[in-house]
Amino acid sequence: MALGRLLHGDPQHDTDGVAIGHGRGYELFTNLAFGGRRDQVFTRLAELSGARPGDRVLDLGCGTGYLTQRMAAAVFPGGSALGIDPSATVVAHARHLADGVPGCTFERGIAEQLDAPDGSFDVVVSSLMIHHLPAPVRPQALAEMFRACRPGGRLMVADFRPPKSRIGRHLIGAATGPAMENNPVDQLEGLIRDAGFTTTTVGDLQPWIRYVTASRPTGHTA
Ligand SMILES: C[S@@+](CC[C@H](N)C(=O)[O-])C[C@H]1O[C@@H](n2cnc3c(N)ncnc32)[C@H](O)[C@@H]1O
Repeated sequence: MALGRLLHGDPQHDTDGVAIGHGRGYELFTNLAFGGRRDQVFTRLAELSGARPGDRVLDLGCGTGYLTQRMAAAVFPGGSALGIDPSATVVAHARHLADGVPGCTFERGIAEQLDAPDGSFDVVVSSLMIHHLPAPVRPQALAEMFRACRPGGRLMVADFRPPKSRIGRHLIGAATGPAMENNPVDQLEGLIRDAGFTTTTVGDLQPWIRYVTASRPTGHTA
């Protein structure tokens, strides 16, 4: 289905998930879907991550880099925000959109197998990515987030919260496919805890975001 392909792209050879293939189309659709609140929502997610000036941030499944840019602003001066995404097209688009933003870089990669040393980030974030991963891969991705986050570091994961009504979910499914229609967002907190993090807050942002914040305990090894 056309909109589903726009949002979720085609399966990638290097991941079991799916990647966005069209950065410009994704930007257009997402701005519309947030009904004028996108900047407000993502700026709030950056605040909720607890990132401070000087922090090193990793944004997994960064897409066009909307959150990555806000994280780079939150850690300025002295910090850095690295966005990772499997799609070469989207990474190129993210680089273009963030041209000139201090400390904001992008690389290709997959969340469940990160090319990052243990404990190399103060803050790990991810928005609207987890539902792209097949269920068995989600714990692997969370385990990688835990590994890459330094002891005492912080995590913020946000994902799509499907409508409560059956008809609402059906409409989402018809437009975008089953990944968003049936997204088990209520399992997010448990997945994060199972990876070893201590969850600190769970909440919703309008129009359709669930977020969980957490920290990696000090002195705990994976
Ligand atoms: C709906 S987009 C969200 C993009 C961005 N984080 C945002 O909030 O606008 C989901 C992103 O996850 C990426 N993705 C899919 N499979 C992935 C994987 N295994 N690891 C990391 N990212 C993945 C897709 O390429 C896509 O850019």
